Amino acid sequence: MKKTIRDYDLSEKRVLIRCDFNVPMKDGVITDDYRIQSSLKTIQYAIEHHAKVILLSHLGRVKEESDKEKNDLRLVALRLSELLGKDVTFVPVTRGKQLEQAVTNMQAGDVILIQNTRYEDLDGKKESKNDPELGRYWASLGDIYINDAFGTCHREHASNVGIATHLPSGIGFLVEKEIENIEQVVANPERPFTVILGGAKVSDKIKVIENLVTKADHILIGGGMAYTFLKAQGFEIGKSLLDQESISFCQMMLSQYSDKIVLPKDHYVSESTDGKGTLKTITETDNNDMGLDIGNQTMTLFTDIIKQSHTVIWNGPVGLFENPEFQKGTIALCEAMKEVSGKTIVGGGDTASAVKKLGYGEVFTHISTGGGASLELLEGKTLPGIACISDK
Ligand code: 3PG
Repeated sequence: MKKTIRDYDLSEKRVLIRCDFNVPMKDGVITDDYRIQSSLKTIQYAIEHHAKVILLSHLGRVKEESDKEKNDLRLVALRLSELLGKDVTFVPVTRGKQLEQAVTNMQAGDVILIQNTRYEDLDGKKESKNDPELGRYWASLGDIYINDAFGTCHREHASNVGIATHLPSGIGFLVEKEIENIEQVVANPERPFTVILGGAKVSDKIKVIENLVTKADHILIGGGMAYTFLKAQGFEIGKSLLDQESISFCQMMLSQYSDKIVLPKDHYVSESTDGKGTLKTITETDNNDMGLDIGNQTMTLFTDIIKQSHTVIWNGPVGLFENPEFQKGTIALCEAMKEVSGKTIVGGGDTASAVKKLGYGEVFTHISTGGGASLELLEGKTLPGIACISDK
């Protein structure tokens, strides 16, 4: 078991908290602050326990000087300050006198946010390559390190693994909640346990399928990746997405787990992604058709299984939900979740944005804040950002 923020006396201590404030922005406006909202519990706890709260996060990728402006964390500090209802001092640098002075001047209960940790990537990728000197330097600014950046736990960077090497450490409430809802649920699900997989490529989900196919009772496959499975069964898939190099993997899975894997029976097809959808059975597909959403019969097939489940984990939309013409399937699955008695969990990334955009954010018991990180947990991997934390 890993230590958590609750295992430390934070009073008057300089507590470094790594958050994942990598939020989408458009024209200087944060378009989804879910990750900031999800970080509040840990930050508030530290404030209430009289810590000097020093926050670190990355934002986007900083490969050249011109990437800095659009990836400046100042707007996040403003939003965070609104949400916390208190001042958050933004320190626009990642090291040096100005930062050290700001830390020295802190009183218990104060909060500062350091500039985007990936600004350090302009100098030999120091953050992303976990430069030992950088991790040691950031650690020197604090007494305790708390990792609450779940979305970044699959990375081994200076601002997580690097700092944790030098300080007593723990996980925050968000990372704890993500572990409980993904890792622990997969290890011990209430049955029937259904996994829904969608998205474009089978190759991105091979390890997830391998890990979950033995644990789940049903694996429902939709979205672009269903077509590689259908092709593996010998069906015509027209112009639908095909992940050629995964065909033999699909054949192997279908021959071993035909009782668990459920594929679409029908779909909405079009000649292009912005066209009108026509409902066809899989056997009616012709060579100009591109499958863009699951069909009505498949919606019934999938939702019947979902409604009877006591645990559902969903990773990957089952249609091109960005186009209203092809979001019926994803909406039908969201509706079915309302009838599940048990946990309904959404992996981060595309699926999380889909369900939130479609207005179903409140229906699920957990929506992960991590795309890559939740996928790696579903693959059964140990995440470096968690492994580096002190054991109880
Ligand atoms: C994410 O958005 O998945 C995390 O913030 C990690 O970002 P990265 O893929 O740029 O490391």
